[in-house]
Amino acid sequence: MSVKSTFDDDVATTSTLLKKTPKNWPVPAPIKEHGHAKIIPIVNQKGGVGKTTTTINLGASLAEYGRRVLLVDFDPQGALSVGLGVNAHELKLQETVYQVLMDPHSDIDRVILKTSIAGMDLLPANKELATAEVTLVNEMGRENFLKRTLATVKDYYDVILIDCQPTLGLLTLNALTAADGVIVPLQCEFFALRGFAQLQENLEKVRINLNPSLKLIGILATMYDKKTLHSREVLERILQAFPESVFETVIAQTVRFPETTVAGEPINTYASNSGGAASYRRFARELVARGGLQ
Ligand SMILES: Nc1ncnc2c1ncn2[C@@H]1O[C@H](COP(=O)(O)OP(=O)(O)OP(=O)(O)O)[C@@H](O)[C@H]1O
Ligand SMILES: [Mg+2]
Repeated sequence: MSVKSTFDDDVATTSTLLKKTPKNWPVPAPIKEHGHAKIIPIVNQKGGVGKTTTTINLGASLAEYGRRVLLVDFDPQGALSVGLGVNAHELKLQETVYQVLMDPHSDIDRVILKTSIAGMDLLPANKELATAEVTLVNEMGRENFLKRTLATVKDYYDVILIDCQPTLGLLTLNALTAADGVIVPLQCEFFALRGFAQLQENLEKVRINLNPSLKLIGILATMYDKKTLHSREVLERILQAFPESVFETVIAQTVRFPETTVAGEPINTYASNSGGAASYRRFARELVARGGLQ
């Protein structure tokens, strides 16, 4: 019986599925001049598909490759903040994204937190953010609040990833209005494509009405279990439906991700040599190589 390493088991690609040679995405060249951040929401109105996990670990991987990264927790569940070891529910309102969103005169540098990863910062959130959604409804230019907020730090960071909540409400609309492009994680399970049509419709509406330059950067297949026929079939179906949009890197299912949430740190440091860490590093290299940050 052959024993495969964790690495082999956990790094999956669409190339392997299609019986092609996996690509060799190069390590990104160092950045000479920082700033002009690309704003990228990680979005899917379906819950539990890997949005927060992708935000944290893609962010940590890009920071490892020398990018200045800001992660924005834009989900009142505060899972991104908790996943980075921040006790979100003990934060005062003034210490969260709510403050800088609702008060244009507040100082964002006082709200942004350093994380355990050099070069990666966090704009935290907690459940109070839900009240912003209600308050915003009656505000003029209600879709533009996050865009205005992030404009003040865009010239410092190279990439700003926004962890969206699993709805297409006003908070997500703010993220899409601020965005250069979006990444959509799709879980490799039967109903993955359900709801994606609705998401595409919404992206189109935002493009027409609010943000003409919004693009779909790509679809990231997550929680892939190559041992099950079901997972392979779903991935095949996603590939057939969107051959141009699916990233070659696929994130396999591994218990290491739930563990990192409990540990409050990215997989890059929690299990640096694991297949899960290798997958998100590979995804970061692919994203840069395919021009996703341009
Ligand atoms: N590749 C993976 N393998 C195994 N478990 C995973 C993987 N990715 C994420 N998970 C786990 O699945 C759960 C949901 O993931 P995550 O929180 O990232 O999804 P989400 O889309 O942000 O959810 P929500 O819609 O509730 O915000 C978490 O417990 C997470 O640790
Ligand atoms: Mg989440």
